[in-house]
Amino acid sequence: MSSQNFSLRLGVLISGSGSNLQALIEALESQQLPGVEIALVVSNRADAYGLQRALKHNLPAIYLPWKQRPVEARFIAPKPTMSESETRLATLLHLFQVDLVVLAGWMRILSAAFLEQFPQRVINIHPALLPDDGTGSIFTTKNGIQIPAFRGLHAVQQALDAGVKITGSCVHFVTPEVDAGPVICREEVIIEEGDTEEMLHERLKVVEHRLIVKAVESVKVLHEPA
Ligand code: GRF
Repeated sequence: MSSQNFSLRLGVLISGSGSNLQALIEALESQQLPGVEIALVVSNRADAYGLQRALKHNLPAIYLPWKQRPVEARFIAPKPTMSESETRLATLLHLFQVDLVVLAGWMRILSAAFLEQFPQRVINIHPALLPDDGTGSIFTTKNGIQIPAFRGLHAVQQALDAGVKITGSCVHFVTPEVDAGPVICREEVIIEEGDTEEMLHERLKVVEHRLIVKAVESVKVLHEPA
């Protein structure tokens, strides 16, 4: 296939509002991302507003109920095989010929076995700043200020609790270790006096809507046939 006919097919995984999905939809509709299309949107929640956004734009959208690991299994190392839910998800993504999986507010951890099916083809948006290679506990800002690399579900609140003056968002490749894969792009955001988690997260999302488009553009170049 020549690079002219090539189209990068995205599988966008969501669990909630889907404002980052909306940013991708708008970039595609305004021809900002030539050679990219959304092949499929998957949500693990039936009530995720992002599903409505997808349907409004005539995109295939699927609710995929996700089986949680039982609480008592949390301390047992996960099996080296995909879970039942992951197997269903991988089947769907292959069926819709997805080239790049975009975790856009997807709240489920994906196992190493799942990620092996899509090498260098799963990216995530994280509402905090991570070092270039994604690992380590410290991030150094453009101005040389060192702040902790906040990971996990409450990264926005963690930044507020730590009293840091700068945070940000990044898009990174997904590796089995949570929020620890190589960073594709990031932007810093100033924390204002009196910011609440909600206020700060809204400002971070404005940045994310630019970053996700930029990240897809960069990854597309990596996968384009020569
Ligand atoms: C984003 O802030 C992203 O960083 C985090 O989940 C949020 C998803 O927001 N992983 P939305 O559903 O795209 O509005």
